[in-house]
Amino acid sequence: TGRRKLIAGNWKMNGLKAHLSEVSAIAKLAGARDDIDVALFLPATLIAAAAPLADGVLIGGQDCHQAQSGAYTGDISAAMLVEAGAGATLVGHSERRAYHGETSADVAAKAAFAHGAGLKVVLCVGETLETRELGDEEAQDWVVDQLLASLPEGADPDWLTIAYEPVWAIGTGKVATPPQIAAMHATLRAALVARLGEKGAAMRLLYGGSVSGDNAADILHLPDVDGALVGGASLSAAKFAPIIAAA
Ligand code: G3H
Repeated sequence: TGRRKLIAGNWKMNGLKAHLSEVSAIAKLAGARDDIDVALFLPATLIAAAAPLADGVLIGGQDCHQAQSGAYTGDISAAMLVEAGAGATLVGHSERRAYHGETSADVAAKAAFAHGAGLKVVLCVGETLETRELGDEEAQDWVVDQLLASLPEGADPDWLTIAYEPVWAIGTGKVATPPQIAAMHATLRAALVARLGEKGAAMRLLYGGSVSGDNAADILHLPDVDGALVGGASLSAAKFAPIIAAA
């Protein structure tokens, strides 16, 4: 496919300085693999301390604001992430969409702004259980709509990766089945190609939602799955190692 696999960890609101040893240990694992990319999306407070430890790992933030600067209490700008040593950011994670009311238009604006500041972007999409229960095809249509509404202007595989994360599979231990993942990824691929042509064919599509050492190989070998976005199992090198090994 020509698409290099990306194994990304998202620490969410977990991790104090005591956990930086895990960043070093994960960097060691990543250093042993020059055939795949490894990224860690860390709490913003850890980025500056983690970046020098993480040679060979792309360090990212978990969100950034869509404005340059200003009166946005509690928010973080793309330039702040860059200055701290980040090379990437997540945008549109379902937890941001659900708990912070971020719309797909916000997500598109954040992605474009982050790219303008020099960051790579992993843009997340995914349906809730309520939508999945309407049926597999309905869920696919819904996620395609969400993806197209969230795609930033100038979307390019050089800097943009898409992560499909069914909300009902996040942190629940409930993984989407390989056929569900394969069908969703094929549908998202077709939508990306229809919108972006060759760039859509080259854009990486990650799966996220309860990925672990036990299920990683089955997921990562599916045709349109170009990597994983891992929450809980990325918090320690011991749990992350078998996922990196499966890629
Ligand atoms: O960004 C990562 C996901 O939300 C997946 O989290 O692996 O803990 O289910 P999880």
